[in-house]
Amino acid sequence: MARTSADRVRVAVFISGAGTNMAGLLYASRLAGAPYEIALVASNCADASGLELAALEGVETFVHPHQGHSREAQDTAMERAATDAGAEIIVLAGYMRILSPEFVRRWEGRILNIHPSLLPRYKGLDTFARAIDAGDSHAGSSVHLVTPDLDAGPVLAQVRVAIAEHDTPETLAARVKLAEHQLYPRALADFIASRAGAPTA
Ligand code: GRF
Repeated sequence: MARTSADRVRVAVFISGAGTNMAGLLYASRLAGAPYEIALVASNCADASGLELAALEGVETFVHPHQGHSREAQDTAMERAATDAGAEIIVLAGYMRILSPEFVRRWEGRILNIHPSLLPRYKGLDTFARAIDAGDSHAGSSVHLVTPDLDAGPVLAQVRVAIAEHDTPETLAARVKLAEHQLYPRALADFIASRAGAPTA
């Protein structure tokens, strides 16, 4: 049965940069049967190029530069935009700000992130260089629920990407990006399906 926009879950995506994962989510949301729609793309960087793509595609955008604001003030502004857009779920897609624990607690179970490693390996930065230096056979990406501890929330889905002998962090990052564009829309759709099937208290 075709979904109407009334039964799609409204999602706010937070970005800081290129927003290619956001674009993947957005175009996946336009396919028949998608269980979500992108209600808002919000950023802490006015020059995040993903904002332009979102606006071009008719998605509401919001910018609140973080400079000169406390973490709490930044989070409050972003949260208000998400709430005003009617978002039920927040999706972080290259959002380069650490969220305050209070914000995370308010959205616990409804906020997802994508991290470019096979968690629990390589939390934090420089994941590709660390995987190459360790001699790993595979890198990859993980979609996880956000908890107050950085990159430590329950993993919802992962994709593995083989590491070639000649890989540099840059060449590996490019292939992981391709894999992420498949991973995130699927992980979000599965997450929404699992919530819909969950028993209510
Ligand atoms: C992705 O590689 C994601 O894993 C990490 O930030 C990057 C964002 O890339 N959290 P983009 O802006 O979606 O292209």
